[in-house]
Amino acid sequence: MNPEIIVKSPGRINLIGEHIDYNGGHVLPAAIDKKVTILFRKNPTTSCHVKSENGGAFSFDIDKPLQISKTHWENYVLGVVDGVLKARPGQVSGFECDISSDLPIGAGISSSAALECGLAKGLNALFDLNLDDLQLIEISRMAEHNFVGTKCGVMDQFAVTMGKRKKLLLLNCESLEYKLIDADFSPYKIVLLNTNVSHNLATSEYNTRREECEKGLSIIQKEHPQYTFLADVPENIIVSYKNKLPQKIYQRVLYVSRENARTIKAAELIQQGDIQGFGALMFQAHEGLSKNYEVSCLELDFLVDLCKDIPQVLGSRMMGGGFGGCTINLVNESFVNKFMELTSKAYKSTFNIDLTPILVATSNGVEIIKVV
Ligand code: GLA
Repeated sequence: MNPEIIVKSPGRINLIGEHIDYNGGHVLPAAIDKKVTILFRKNPTTSCHVKSENGGAFSFDIDKPLQISKTHWENYVLGVVDGVLKARPGQVSGFECDISSDLPIGAGISSSAALECGLAKGLNALFDLNLDDLQLIEISRMAEHNFVGTKCGVMDQFAVTMGKRKKLLLLNCESLEYKLIDADFSPYKIVLLNTNVSHNLATSEYNTRREECEKGLSIIQKEHPQYTFLADVPENIIVSYKNKLPQKIYQRVLYVSRENARTIKAAELIQQGDIQGFGALMFQAHEGLSKNYEVSCLELDFLVDLCKDIPQVLGSRMMGGGFGGCTINLVNESFVNKFMELTSKAYKSTFNIDLTPILVATSNGVEIIKVV
């Protein structure tokens, strides 16, 4: 294709603050240097033709109501186009769209948000729609809710759209205010270990966690109506509900309160240069995700446990929604190669699965190149 517009849309990492976004708390993500590339060209009809390097091709007509597809990845596209059409009726025509990617899928680094936000921002530029970043983030998030079926929070779409090179975003998911923090961990590097497993519980359990948190909050609100979001409820109040909440719900809400506090603390430590202190919080976060929130799995736990005995690794935890995907690790740069070798060997001999280590750097959010 001879594109009019080329979009580079990054994946994201999250340093700490997992399953906190939909509870109105703080998260600490960054956009990364692994990206989805999308080429766009308008056509004068109402037909859209979308081709993906590894998922095949499909077409649809923007004059007919868009329906949820049985082919999973197509729903990211359909959901975003549906949102854009509703936000700007009559301003979009047919288009050609080619998608390629160096972002692994299902690895918890948000290939889905990269695709959604890249499409939203690309269509906005292609048709001069004048939608601002917050509107594009919301269209992308709603595509995930309404077409894909995951009732996700705002973290991924926000990080993918607003990320900055060499920066982390300390994002308040209640107000959407954010602060850019230097992503300086030297002499430590961020290494992801992709388990290459993606247990199919991910979507259903994700939505269940969200419901459990809502239920917990609604019970707490009866006596403490001043709290609108679960992440704001302090640990001492949560603890007073130990015998008043069903046990699983108690575990979930305790995790959320602690993880939000950990994230605020982590941002302080990183800004003070206390990377060791931050690393310790990563291990604590994993413990909470695994034991209380129960979104980890054997493979992730194995990798984090392995790191506890490696002095050159300051912190390690599962990242993203869970049930597979990646761990995120802070590794001394002189040890990175050895670390990749050692963890790959141990993982292969335990699970008979190849591990994929990924050294990541932070990068800018979605970028648009207009071809003249
Ligand atoms: C997924 C969701 C995010 C967030 C994370 C967990 O990536 O899309 O909104 O909830 O899981 O932190």
